[in-house]
Amino acid sequence: MDAPAQRVLVIIPTYDERTTLPLTLTGLRTAAPDVDVLVVDDNSPDGTGDVADSLAATDPHVHVMHRTAKDGLGAAYLAGFDWALDRGYDVIFEMDADGSHRPEDFPALLAAFDATPAPDLVLGSRWVPGGAVVNWPRHRELLSRGGNTYVRLALGLRFGDATGGFRGYRARALRAVDLDDVASQGYCFQVDMAWRVDQAGGRVVEVPITFVERTAGESKMSRQIVQEALWKVTAWGITRRWHALRGVRTTPRTAPLRGSS
Ligand code: GDD
Ligand code: MN
Repeated sequence: MDAPAQRVLVIIPTYDERTTLPLTLTGLRTAAPDVDVLVVDDNSPDGTGDVADSLAATDPHVHVMHRTAKDGLGAAYLAGFDWALDRGYDVIFEMDADGSHRPEDFPALLAAFDATPAPDLVLGSRWVPGGAVVNWPRHRELLSRGGNTYVRLALGLRFGDATGGFRGYRARALRAVDLDDVASQGYCFQVDMAWRVDQAGGRVVEVPITFVERTAGESKMSRQIVQEALWKVTAWGITRRWHALRGVRTTPRTAPLRGSS
């Protein structure tokens, strides 16, 4: 007998993405007709929430969560994770709405979950062989490469791209992480989650993607988002080294995902 099909949800956070969201949704639904989608909109002033509602009205696979105000990428994803876990999804993806994450890369990310043993986290990666960025301004590329190098040095993570936002989690990985304890607001959320899954003993694999700079709308990257990432990663790194010096294990003794399949 065939194993029951796994239920897959793609969470797409939006803030002022009314022109790009329809293209992303159409592309994704074509590339992966069986997946469900949850748009998490922070009451976008440009009416993205209404656009999402009208797309959902004609496609039962599309759902929309309306939040009251812009509260950061991290909070939007955490609300989406709760929604997904409450409804019993097996695999939960993150994806940007602005066209930077290409729907045609999605099937390879999803297929990576079929490996044995199954991964807990599949990272779409710009900075592994086969990965690429297209039209990204030089300063953004340097920030991303530099940020990932810093993350590797500070936290000892081995990933080429711990800051990217095109990735999927097995539900059990989200359950193993204390989501209530995740306070990162901006793009630092991505590092925070990758680190927590790794510390829980999770299996992480990277799949190359091509990241294409948006052609409409604006990035929400800000000085504040960069500063949050810098000070948090630095603080986590110092704590990790301090524990190592004192012989304290950073990895919890009961890493919930370690050794299980
Ligand atoms: N709901 C909600 N609330 N959505 C948000 C918020 C927020 O406060 N901030 C950003 N978003 C949404 C955007 O609308 C978009 O769909 C997605 O999150 C990514 O935001 P961008 O502003 O386009 O990110 P970027 O292109 O500058 O950054 C990319 O690189 C980062 C660093 O590698 C993204 O791939 C990030 O995920 C990644 O961390
Ligand atoms: Mn973007």
